[in-house]
Amino acid sequence: MAKMNLSIVALGVVLLLLETTEAQKPKKRLVPPKTSKGQCCDEVRSLKVQVANLTSILEELSRKQETDLINVVRQVMELDKQKQQLNARVTEAESKYSEVNNRVEIMQLQTLQSATQTSSHAIYDCASLYGKNYKISGEYKLPKDDFLGTPEISIFCDMETNGGGWTLIQRRKIGLTSFKQDWKQYKTGFGSIRGDFWLGNDNIYRLTRQPSTLRIEMEDWEGETRYAEYGFFTVKNELNSYKLFLANYSGNAGNSLRYHNNTNFSTNDKDNDKCVDNCASLRKGGYWYNCCTDSNLNGVFYRYGEHTKNTDGITWYAWHGPNYSLKRVEMKVRPMNFQP
Ligand SMILES: *[C@@H]1O[C@H](CO)[C@@H](O)[C@H](O)[C@H]1NC(C)=O
Ligand SMILES: *[C@@H]1O[C@H](CO)[C@@H](O)[C@H](O)[C@H]1NC(C)=O
Ligand SMILES: *[C@@H]1O[C@H](CO)[C@@H](O)[C@H](O)[C@H]1NC(C)=O
Ligand SMILES: *[C@@H]1O[C@H](CO)[C@@H](O)[C@H](O)[C@H]1NC(C)=O
Ligand SMILES: *[C@@H]1O[C@H](CO)[C@@H](O)[C@H](O)[C@H]1NC(C)=O
Repeated sequence: MAKMNLSIVALGVVLLLLETTEAQKPKKRLVPPKTSKGQCCDEVRSLKVQVANLTSILEELSRKQETDLINVVRQVMELDKQKQQLNARVTEAESKYSEVNNRVEIMQLQTLQSATQTSSHAIYDCASLYGKNYKISGEYKLPKDDFLGTPEISIFCDMETNGGGWTLIQRRKIGLTSFKQDWKQYKTGFGSIRGDFWLGNDNIYRLTRQPSTLRIEMEDWEGETRYAEYGFFTVKNELNSYKLFLANYSGNAGNSLRYHNNTNFSTNDKDNDKCVDNCASLRKGGYWYNCCTDSNLNGVFYRYGEHTKNTDGITWYAWHGPNYSLKRVEMKVRPMNFQP
């Protein structure tokens, strides 16, 4: 009997372990790899370690269990099923990343070859990649373009949502990258393209020189998702403080960027808001602050259960009010005339 209880406790611990490794997964992906191949291998390696651990736990358990067979067999089968699911994920992740890597390599070759001929009217973004038949979501590299004066950058493409062709300009999902950054960092961008990042105001300005649509997707801590789309979205250049212009809202999250329409971008070291207060400092992020916010997608990431009391979280007032910090946000743009 004592042995039986012990084994149940052991199983409880195992299940707990499984849950924690699952919950820690996003953290593991955070370590920004130098290449997408590194990312692939880190993720695959970490999945493989989990599989190996499960295997050894299974072996250990089956060794221990000699008496309470029926019960234990059922539980072992359950664990085995989970192990198989993990194995399937390893295979899936491996094939997905190798496919993306192949495509990125082909693309880099192509862009190198055609750069000299087409640079005068090439605006590279995820929509133009989609048009060239790159239809897998993931990281792509855009080459430096002397004509446009653009440096080489990594972009992340969403090729699935609502027809695809979206270039991500912002993402919050892991919460370890601080968005309390100064003007210079917001100008050039920061963070990691597969994790949390701001693409950079100069890049957003360049992307939205062609008439563009903005789509914002949000998820709360209960797993519910909402979106807000602006049929027209553009920002001015640095000389004009990256002033925001928006029109034609649609969606189910509410229109919480309207209040920020026609405002300049502010950071804690550059107060361009319409308040006596320094909103960027109070709200701890760079944004198009009015006086101050009806949304603050660059606020502080508060983990589950720590919804902010300081109204400096990642907020979208029309959905969850000023004191609820969202779990996940993605801001993405594509040309208005994009045809999937
Ligand atoms: C795998 O097991 C070893 C020892 O049992 C432990 O140190 C390690 O943290 C485990 N790794 C994972 C991903 O659970
Ligand atoms: C908003 O949508 C209307 C109707 O489709 C269109 O006529 C108008 O040009 C759009 N506004 C902008 C700024 O794109
Ligand atoms: C926005 O910035 C521009 C210059 O960068 C300035 O002329 C304008 O007055 C500012 N607008 C507001 C509302 O602060
Ligand atoms: C933003 O302001 C402009 C006027 O400058 C207006 O035409 C547009 O409809 C406004 N956008 C929203 C979303 O209200
Ligand atoms: C948000 O928090 C502030 C400060 O704690 C409080 O005054 C306010 O009533 C709260 N608002 C809502 C909608 O809960």
